[in-house]
Amino acid sequence: MSVNKCLFPVAGLGTRFLPVTKELAKEMLPLVNKPIISYGVEEARNSGCESIVMVTGRAKKSLEDYFDRSFELEELLKSRGKNDLYELMIKISNIAEILFVRQREPLGLGHAVLCGEPICHGEYFGVILPDDVFISDEPVLSQLIKIHDRLGGTVVALEEVSPEDTSRYGIVQSEEVEPGVHRIFDMVEKPKPGTAPSNYAIMGRYVLSPLIFPILAGQNTGAGGEIQLTDAIKKIAVTGIEPVWGVVYKGRRFDCGTQKGWLSANVELALDTPELRDVIYEIVDRRRAE
Ligand code: G1P
Repeated sequence: MSVNKCLFPVAGLGTRFLPVTKELAKEMLPLVNKPIISYGVEEARNSGCESIVMVTGRAKKSLEDYFDRSFELEELLKSRGKNDLYELMIKISNIAEILFVRQREPLGLGHAVLCGEPICHGEYFGVILPDDVFISDEPVLSQLIKIHDRLGGTVVALEEVSPEDTSRYGIVQSEEVEPGVHRIFDMVEKPKPGTAPSNYAIMGRYVLSPLIFPILAGQNTGAGGEIQLTDAIKKIAVTGIEPVWGVVYKGRRFDCGTQKGWLSANVELALDTPELRDVIYEIVDRRRAE
C-alpha cells in the first residue's frame, strides 16, 4: 500500500469525561468490550498501515501499556487453560508497530501532527482522530487511501451535517467530481453560524501529504487560539500545489468525544451484539412500564 503509517493524535486531556479521565486516557474508555483506541488502530491496520504513531501527552501511560506485552497475565491465562484469552492478549500486542512521541504543550491538532514529523516525514501518511469511531464494511481510512492511490494528493473524510452543526467542524468549499468524491478548493475551521461555505464537514480521517510539515511549522494560531490542521490543509487546497480531495465516507460514525456520543455508541453497538441486545430492551421495557 502507498500509505504505511498512521498517526493518532491522543494527547487531549479528556476534560469532558472528568473525573474518570484524571488518571485514565479517554481513548481507553470502553466501547462495549474494547477501548475506543482499538477501533481506530484496527481500522488503520485493516487499511494497510503497518506502523502506528501515537502523539501522546501526560496521563496516557495506559495507552502504552495496553499495546505492550503482559507476561504475567499471559502466563496466568496459559496456566489456567484460557487459550482464547491468551491468544487475544498476544493479538493485541502484535497488532502493529506502535511508536509514541510526546506533544509537550496542548497547542492544537495541527501541532500534534507536526510532533509526528520525525517519524512521518517524506511520505504520505494517514491520520485517525480516535474520538470519531467508524463502523463500516470497508474501513474509512482505506476508502480515503484508495482515492489517494487513484488521484494523488491529500484526502479528507467528509460528512454532510445539518447547518446548525457546521460551527463544530472544519467545513469545506468543494465541487463533486464523481459520486461521493469532491475536489476541495477551500476550507474553514469552525465557521461562525451562518457563514459556512457548505454543509460538508471534515470527519476525523485524513491522508496527508509530507508538504503539510513545513506549512504547519510556519503557521500561526487559528480558531480557538490553536494551531489548526484545517488551516494547513487549506493552504495546499488554495494554492493548488497538489489536489485536496474529500470522500463522503460510507459507514456509521460515533462521536465518542462527548459523554452523550460515547453513551449512544455503547448502546448502538450493544444493540448490534446479539448477546447484549436484550439487556438494553429489557431495561427500556421495564422503565417504560414503571
Ligand atoms: C477536529 C478538526 C475539525 C474536524 C473534527 C472532526 O476538531 O479540527 O476540522 O471537523 O476534528 O471530528 P475537534 O473535534 O478536535 O474540535
